[in-house]
Formats: sequence, C-alpha cells, structure tokens
Amino acid sequence: MERTHNNGELRLSDVNKEVTLLGWVAKRRNLGSLVFIDLRDRYGITQVICDESLDEITSKIRNEYVLQVKGKVVQRQNPNPSLKTGEIEVEASEITIINTAETTPLIIANETDALEDTRMKYRYLDLRRPIMQEKLVIRHKITQTIREFLNNRDFIEVETPILTSTTPEGARDYLVPSRVNPGKFYALPQSPQLFKQLLMISGLERYYQIARCFRDEDLRSDRQPDFTQVDIEMSFMEEHEIMDLVEKMFAKVLKDVKDFEIKLPLRQIKYKDALGKYGSDKPDTRFGFELVALNDVFVNTEYRIFKDILGQNGYIKGINAKGLSDNISRKDIDKYTELVKKYHAKGLSWARVKEDTLEGPLAKNLTKEEINGLIKRFESNNGDILFIVSDINFEITCLSLGALRSELGKRFTPPKKDTFDLLWIVDFPLFEFDEDTQTIMAAHHPFTRPFKEDEHLLDTEPLKVRSHHYDLVLNGYELGSGSLRIYDQEMQRKVFKIIGLSDEDIEKRFGFFVNAFKYGTPPHGGLALGLDRIAMILTNSDSIRDVIAFPKNASAIDPMSEAPSEVSLKQLEELHLKIVKD
Ligand code: AMO
Repeated sequence: MERTHNNGELRLSDVNKEVTLLGWVAKRRNLGSLVFIDLRDRYGITQVICDESLDEITSKIRNEYVLQVKGKVVQRQNPNPSLKTGEIEVEASEITIINTAETTPLIIANETDALEDTRMKYRYLDLRRPIMQEKLVIRHKITQTIREFLNNRDFIEVETPILTSTTPEGARDYLVPSRVNPGKFYALPQSPQLFKQLLMISGLERYYQIARCFRDEDLRSDRQPDFTQVDIEMSFMEEHEIMDLVEKMFAKVLKDVKDFEIKLPLRQIKYKDALGKYGSDKPDTRFGFELVALNDVFVNTEYRIFKDILGQNGYIKGINAKGLSDNISRKDIDKYTELVKKYHAKGLSWARVKEDTLEGPLAKNLTKEEINGLIKRFESNNGDILFIVSDINFEITCLSLGALRSELGKRFTPPKKDTFDLLWIVDFPLFEFDEDTQTIMAAHHPFTRPFKEDEHLLDTEPLKVRSHHYDLVLNGYELGSGSLRIYDQEMQRKVFKIIGLSDEDIEKRFGFFVNAFKYGTPPHGGLALGLDRIAMILTNSDSIRDVIAFPKNASAIDPMSEAPSEVSLKQLEELHLKIVKD
C-alpha cells in the first residue's frame, strides 16, 4: 500500500514535501471551516489539516477509522512540543477511508481509566495504545540483545518439546490428554531443565532458548501460568564463569535498552546474610529498614516470650522505622501484625521511642536495662518506632520481618524509577523444610550440586548443606535462578532419596534422565532468567501482564478468548475423558 512516511517521522526539514500517510484516527476536531485529524500509527502521531474541499469525506470520519492521507507538509503555526512531529502538519489534498470502526470500548490513548478486565477482553485495542506498543518494542529489544550476545559467544538456540512429561520445578503441571494413548497425559514443561541437561550430555556445550514455560500455581503480579524464560546451559564451566557471562549479558541489556551503565562485577550476597540483613533472598537494597539482631540484648531477660525463644536457641530481630512513630497508627500496626503472621510469625512486638524511653505494651515487660539496650542497639531517637519478631526458626524470623521491611520501604521511601539494584544471591542451602507439608524439599531443583565440603552432612544434617545455586535479583525481584548440576549418578540418587523419592518414583519420573547420566556426562550448569520480569522492570510496569501480548487474569482466564473453555462431548470421548461434577 502506498505510504511515503510513517506518522512519527516528519520534521521541519520535510516542509513542502508531498507525502502519503497511513494510520488510525486518534482524534478529529472541527475548528470553523477546518477539520484537524490526528493520524496515529506505531511510530507516532501526525496532525492532518483538511479544508472545506474535503468536507464530504471528513464529515464521515470517526475515531479509529483507518485512512490513507495524501498532502503537503507545512510548518505549524502553534508547534506542539509533546509530539515528535509537533513542528509540522500535513495539509491534506486527498483522503481515502480504508476502513471504518465502531466506537471502541476503551479509549485508545496512553491514559486510560478502563478496567483491567475490559483491557484484556479487548486486548487488541489495548495494544493499540502507544504506551503498550512501546512496552512490546522494549521487550523485543531485550530479546534481540540477548540473542545477539549469546550468538556471538558460540551458543546455539535449540527448541525443546512443549508436549512432554513432568519437569521438576515444584509447581503443579498442566496436563494434556493423549488421544492416541488412552488414559495417558503429556505435561507441559515447567522449564526445559531436563532437556537442556540432556543437550549437555549430547555434547552441545552451549545452549540457549527463549523458552515458553507453564506452571499451574497461584498467580501474582510477577507470575503467569505461561511465561517465557531465557534458558541457558553450559558445559565445563565454573560457577563464577557462568555468573560472569550472565552479568555481562544483563549489563548489555541495560546499556542497549535503557542506556544505563551498571558496574561489574555485581555484588554477591550470601543467602544467610541476605536473610539476616534484609529478611529476603531477593532483597531490594535501595531502601533501609534493615534487620537488627537482638538476641544478646535479652540474654538475661525475664520476659517470658523472649526467654522461651532464647531457651530454644531461637532468634530475636527487629526493624527501626526511623522517625516514623507519628506516621504509623495503631491500625497500621494491626495490619503489619497480620502481615508478619502470614509469614508464620506468632506476632509482632512494637514500641514507640518517646522521651528517651520506650512506650507501648512491650515496654511494660522489659527492664530499664533492656530498654536502654534496645535503644542503643537500634541507634534510636525520639520519634522512632521499633518492631520486633522472635521465633525459634531463623527463616520465619527473617522472612516475616522482611515482608514488613518491604511494606515500610514501599510506603515511606519508594525507590525512584529507572534505578537498577542488580545483585547475586549465592550459597543457598541445597534443601529447605516445607512448613506446610513438613517435608524436606529441594531449595532450587533436585539437580543442583552440593558444596563438596558440605557433602558429609547429606546423611546427618541435610538442611545445613550449601549448594552451587545462584539467583540474579533486580529491584527486589528474582530475575533468574541457576546452578551447577550434579553429574555423578550416585549423588543424584542420594539427593532424590533425601527429598523422599523412592527408587520407583525416580524410575517413573526421571528414569530416562538418570539413565542418560551413565553415558559420559560433562560437568555442566546454567540458569534461566524470567524474560517477562525483565521486561516488566525495564518498562516500569507494575505487572508482567503489561509486557505479555495476550496474558491471563488473576484467575488464569483469558477474558478475550475465554480460555479455558468447555469442550464438546465428542472431544472428551476422543480423549477418553469424562467430566465428573461434584
Ligand atoms: P526457576 O523455577 O527459578 O528456575 O525459574 C527461573 C525464572 O523464571 C521466572 N519465573 C516466572 N516468571 C513468570 N511467571 C512464573 N510463573 C514464573 N516462574 C518462574 C523467574 C525465575 O527466576 N530450570 C530452572 C533454572 C535453572 O536451574 O537453570 C528454573 O526454571 O524470573
């Protein structure tokens, strides 16, 4: 279709040129005998000015009609600095209506008050909004930068199956019934983990994939049921070499996409230290409210709760919300108490610092010496408010306070946009104890290699074993996770056993995988980055839904296509399935 320029392109230097434009009508205004049309395409908006000779056609034009406009570029009397093309306009000589449009259910503009469900139902219109297109363009740039970086370093891109068997990332599988194999199901991959390790056994050495992954888990703003990973695996590499490559890749993404220089090598924080200081294994270190250890302040305490905890080798830690006593009400404290309870803490103690002493229910239980000890340890002044959690479990103490820290940070010192706090968390434990099921689970996945020097603890104190597992964290989000893998069959079997898999379980779930390890497995490792999360942060979006063209809502439904949907009886029969209503 004839088109000489796009709608973001024309400048003063183009004045007097005859041009042909294509696009959608963003706005149409009548000004006396003149009609002004803002013509929009992916590249921007150009103002078109139509005189009376075009009345017959301009009177028919409505918002979102698709037009072809021919005319001459002229200088604008009143430039519009908010448009890239704001110094010119196009005097139309001919307009063709290529297509008409009904009134759209949402306004096609950057600012919208449309409900998210409406935006998702009419996603194709939502994506016509320039701000949304920009997000997809940035996402595309991120992917291209990553591809280019890896291609230049001898990586090859390999696709792995979507219809497969269960993968080990710990979420629920999406299952697909097999028509030709009655009663059998494929699982959609939670990640390409098994396949990428098999590719290392095949000798490919350097693999990557922009991989679709599927996990049936509770959704949050940074989780979707189908999402995309930048999945990487390498043979014969040490942990530091893998991390070095990944941080260089991410630095290039920040440079190419945001023109932001990040200092390398990145900071590395040990898991235990991150938990102890920030109460999180994905800390946002752009704000304070750091956790303070308090055990020694209470060594001689008679306060029953703290005494009990210390008697059981537990932990007492707290946060000083500096200068915020007047900003934090009783109601807020109740809210914060509910928050720490969600993280399994039994409660939240608090005290206001006033007239060089502490006020509040906790203070009544403390000696003068303990009060002074607390004030000193928290380096507190009048006007501060102190929060304390005590528990026999280190993780519960830290994570519950970490949740409070995030809440305080978000509320009182929200970080500036376009600031990037990128760091590694290292030395994770190999296993974690799941409070809900009361079982030992793999902290990352069961293929993660333990520290050689901790292997002797596997049989006796498995929860103390550290692993070659590393996470890349940006602004408080886990961007990516990876590890060196076990390549010794016996070690693999041992780890499976510790997480409660019997020989039959292993054979059934991972038989083909374990078998492959018999035939010459190179030492290998890798990582996967959440592409949607990277795009979310680099586009300053609040949710990964904003950077996914066609996402699902919080109930895992796509309001546009109405997936998931019911299917016909015939389809069910072919799949050998029957729906049983409870
Ligand atoms: P993991 O399970 O930690 O590791 O996932 C890696 C990264 O994928 C992203 N991610 C998600 N993004 C959006 N929605 C989801 N539901 C979702 N789940 C995960 C996160 C996360 O950091 N196979 C291993 C990697 C490896 O060991 O190489 C894996 O998948 O950004």
